[in-house]
Amino acid sequence: LSGEELRVGEEHAALRRVATLVARGVPAEEVFAAVTEEVGRLLPVESVAMGRYESDGTMTVVATSGPVGDRFAVGGRWTLGGKNVSTVVAQTGRPARIDSYADASGAVGSAVREEGVGSGVGTPIIVDGRLWGVMTARSGPEQPLPANTQARLANFTELLATAIANAESRAGLARLAAEQAALRRVATLVARGAPPEEVFAAVTEEVGRLLGTHLAGMARYESDDTVTVVATWAAEDDHGDAHPLVPGPWPLEGGDLASTIWRTRRPVRIDDYRGVPGRIAAFVRDELGIGASVGSPIVVEGRLWGALFVHSKRSDQPLPRDTESRLTGFTELVATAIANAEGRAELMASRARIVAAADETRRRIERDLHDGTQQRLVSLGLELRAAQEAVPPQLGELKRELSRVAKGLANVFDELREISHGIHPAILSEGGLEPALRALCRRSAVPVELDLRAERRLPAHVEVAAYYAVSEALTNAAKHAHASVVHVELDTHDAILQFAIRDDGVGGADPGRGSGMVGLSDRIEALGGTLEVTSPTGSGTTLLIEVPVEGQRSAGSPGP
Ligand SMILES: Nc1ncnc2c1ncn2[C@@H]1O[C@H](COP(=O)(O)OP(=O)(O)OP(=O)(O)O)[C@@H](O)[C@H]1O
Ligand SMILES: [Mg+2]
Repeated sequence: LSGEELRVGEEHAALRRVATLVARGVPAEEVFAAVTEEVGRLLPVESVAMGRYESDGTMTVVATSGPVGDRFAVGGRWTLGGKNVSTVVAQTGRPARIDSYADASGAVGSAVREEGVGSGVGTPIIVDGRLWGVMTARSGPEQPLPANTQARLANFTELLATAIANAESRAGLARLAAEQAALRRVATLVARGAPPEEVFAAVTEEVGRLLGTHLAGMARYESDDTVTVVATWAAEDDHGDAHPLVPGPWPLEGGDLASTIWRTRRPVRIDDYRGVPGRIAAFVRDELGIGASVGSPIVVEGRLWGALFVHSKRSDQPLPRDTESRLTGFTELVATAIANAEGRAELMASRARIVAAADETRRRIERDLHDGTQQRLVSLGLELRAAQEAVPPQLGELKRELSRVAKGLANVFDELREISHGIHPAILSEGGLEPALRALCRRSAVPVELDLRAERRLPAHVEVAAYYAVSEALTNAAKHAHASVVHVELDTHDAILQFAIRDDGVGGADPGRGSGMVGLSDRIEALGGTLEVTSPTGSGTTLLIEVPVEGQRSAGSPGP
C-alpha cells in the first residue's frame, strides 16, 4: 500500500467511527471531542479546536485536542475581530488560512501568536444552512500546514453539522414534549373545574419551570384602572422570598409590562429595565432585581382580564424570542378556566335565586293560611260550639247534626294544618332545625333514630334545605324502601353542614324515576353543596349531603 492509500484508509476508518457515534445519537459534546481527537491524530497538526459562534459577536470553545494551552480551554469565550482564522470564517462563512501569525490581531490572533503558532486553518461548520461554528487546526512554528488540510477538515465538519442538527432537533422535540405535558396538566385542571386560584397557581408554576425563568406571575386588571397580582412563582434556587411580588393594587401608569399590555392588549417584552418609568417597573427592577421580562394578555370572551408574566434576573440577556408565543397556550387555558368559573358562578347564583324565590312564596302562603284561613276556621269552630250549646234539649237531632259538622270542621282544620306544614313548617322559622326535625321524625311512618349535633341556628336557606332533604328522604323510605328504621345524623364542622340519612330497606333508588331526589339535588347544589346517593339493591339507601354554611363554596367564584 502506498502512503497515500494508507492515509485515505485511516481517514475513512476515522470518519466511520464518528459517523457511528452520530448515528447512535450520543450527546453532541461527545461527538465534538471525538472529532477533534481523530483530526488531531490523522492530520500533521499540533492542535485542533472547535468553536461555536454566539449571537453577540463572541465564540465559545466547545472542544480541543493537542497542546492548546490553558487559555484556550473548553468553555472559554472569545471576542471576535481582527486578523485570525476564527474571525475570518465568521465573517466570510468560508474556509480560511493564515500562514504567518506575525501580523495576526484581535483577541484570538494575539493569543495564538503568543503560543508560537506557525500556520492555522479553519473550516466553517454549517448547520441547516446557518453558520454554527468553526473547526481550526494549527501547526507549530516553522511547520506550514499541507495544502489539503482545509479539505480534510471539511470531511469532518459535515459529520459535526449532522450531529449538531440531530442534537438540536432532539432538544427541540424534548422542549415541545415538555410544553405539551405542562399544557395538558393545566387543561386537566381546567376541565375538572378546579377553582380559578388553583389554575392560576398551577399556570404560573408551569410556565416558570418550562421557560426556565426566575419568576413568574399572573395579574388581574381591576375596574378602577389598577392591577392586582393573583399568583406568583419563584425558582427554588432563587434564594429569598418564595412570593416576592406585592399583590397591589398597582396603578397602571408606567412603562412596565402590565401597564403596556393594558394599553395595547398585546404581548410585550422588556429587554432592558433601565429608564423604564413607573412604580411597577421600579419595584420589579430595584426590589426584585429583574433584568428582562415578557408578558402576554389574558383575554376572556373578548375582554382583557389580566396578564401572565415571566421574569429573568439576567440583565445581559433578553428572554428568548419565542417566549411570547409559548405563553399564549397558557393564557388561553387561563381564559377558559375563568370563563367556565364565571359561567358556573352565574348558574349557581340563578339556581339559588330560583330556590330562594320559591321558598319565599311557600313561606308567604303558609303565613297567609296560618294567620288567615286557619284562624277563621278556629273561630268558626268556636261559634259552632257556642251554637251547639244554645240548642234546646228537645232538638236532639239538630244538636247531633251540629256536632257532626263541628267534627268535620276539625278534620278540615287538621288537614289544612298538615298541608301548610308541608308547604313551609312554621316551626322551622320559629324554633330552628332541631325542633322541626324532631317533629318531622315523630310523624314519620318508619321509626327514626335522630342524631343531631348542631346546636346553633344556621342561616335560613341552610335550615330549609336540611329540613326538606330529611323530609324527602323519610317520605321515600316510607313509600319505597320497606325499611324498618331510618338513621338521620347531622353535624356541622368547618363551616359545613353534613348530614347522612340511611335506611335499611330494599335499595335501588333511582333519581331518574321521580322528581323528589332531583329537586333535592337542585336545591343542595344551588347552595354550593353536594348530594351523594348510595343505594345498592338489597342493602338500603344512604343520602350523604354537605352544604356550606357561610355563603357559597369557592367552586363558582372567580375570585374576590
Ligand atoms: N329510600 C329508598 N329506597 C328504595 N327506593 C327508593 C328510595 N328512595 C327512592 N327510591 C326509588 O327511586 C325513585 C326516585 O325517587 P324520588 O324521590 O326521586 O321520586 P318518587 O319518590 O318516586 O316521587 P316524588 O318524590 O317526586 O314524589 C323512586 O321512584 C323509588 O323507586
Ligand atoms: Mg320521593
